Amino acid sequence: MKALVLSGGRATRLRPITHTSAKQLVPVANKPILFYALEAIRDAGITDIGIIVGHTAEEIKAAVGDGERFGVKVTYIPQEAPLGLAHAVKIAEPFIKDDRFVMFLGDNLIRDGISEVVSRFQEESPNAHIMLARVRNPQDFGVAELNGTKVLRLVEKPKEPKSDLALVGVYLFDSTVFEAVNAIKPSARGELEITDAIQYLIEKQYTVHWHLVSGWWKDTGKLEDMLEANRLVLETIERRIDGEVDESSQIDGRVVVEKGTQVVNSVIRGPAIVGEGCKIENSYIGPFTSIYNRVKITSSEVEHSIILEDSCITDIGARIEDSLIGKNVMVAKDNGRPRAYRFMLGDNSDVSVI
Ligand code: DAU
Repeated sequence: MKALVLSGGRATRLRPITHTSAKQLVPVANKPILFYALEAIRDAGITDIGIIVGHTAEEIKAAVGDGERFGVKVTYIPQEAPLGLAHAVKIAEPFIKDDRFVMFLGDNLIRDGISEVVSRFQEESPNAHIMLARVRNPQDFGVAELNGTKVLRLVEKPKEPKSDLALVGVYLFDSTVFEAVNAIKPSARGELEITDAIQYLIEKQYTVHWHLVSGWWKDTGKLEDMLEANRLVLETIERRIDGEVDESSQIDGRVVVEKGTQVVNSVIRGPAIVGEGCKIENSYIGPFTSIYNRVKITSSEVEHSIILEDSCITDIGARIEDSLIGKNVMVAKDNGRPRAYRFMLGDNSDVSVI
């Protein structure tokens, strides 16, 4: 079996972070989301992986390389524009050939991995297997309508969903899916939808199996989902302190402090992770916070947030919460006159002040 990982796309909902970076490389608990997918695929015994890349191709290639460090072999498949998930399948045909494959959306995270569903797909040999999860906002996903054990209908982001069963971004196919992706037409939003391709398989009486995911699943397309994914992954970390913590600091619970990091006169309450080469001084880092490499936090409080590399937070009077702070960002109290907020924010930034 092969795997196809989708790491192109536009990621408008995570701007401004995604003006400069691929959304699949935003770290969750200090590991790029995409890496969780590659590891899940490898753990299911699949090592031949095609990665669909778009305008962020160079960044994805720099992070993943030839796949050797994950124990897999990666082939990059450039997509000229984000023309849809089924378009990605279409252009991957020369790579997949007539193998069966698992397609994994590079911004999806599944707690329990995919080993079980891959074995089940190999045993049962349907034409396609989809995974479903109950969600509170089905209108934001592909939605399944079931009739007993049969999938009756799949609709992409319906205004009036017929169920709360969302399509998870992991799909298993045999080569009949190429017939489907070549037969369907672009949707109203101008994309070739994988949902429509699977609907085609259903209508042509091909076998489409499904199951409900038991553990958690997250599509990290939006800020709140990214923070939620970060929270869920941090729940699973073990305490490990490789950096230096001085005597006036206190580290509570499941906290990771990586090597080369100094914690001075601060409190870190887990679950939380602080990357390499950081300095946390006179500060409080609260639960569900991931701080990436070379971040400096001085006289500030941060909780339930993700902070990317090389950023600096200094003397902030109030607690920073529910935030995603990009790379090389400076947030500091300004004691100059006149007293004012002074910003330099990228396009599509989102700031709340008190
Ligand atoms: O996350 C599950 C949902 O994913 C499903 O419930 C929906 O049925 C499915 O259409 C998809 O919806 P999204 O709106 O979340 O898809 P998005 O545009 O975010 O793309 C998913 C991933 O695929 C993302 O990592 C970007 C990548 N992509 C997307 C497109 C449209 C590509 O590589 N190429 C593309 O052309």
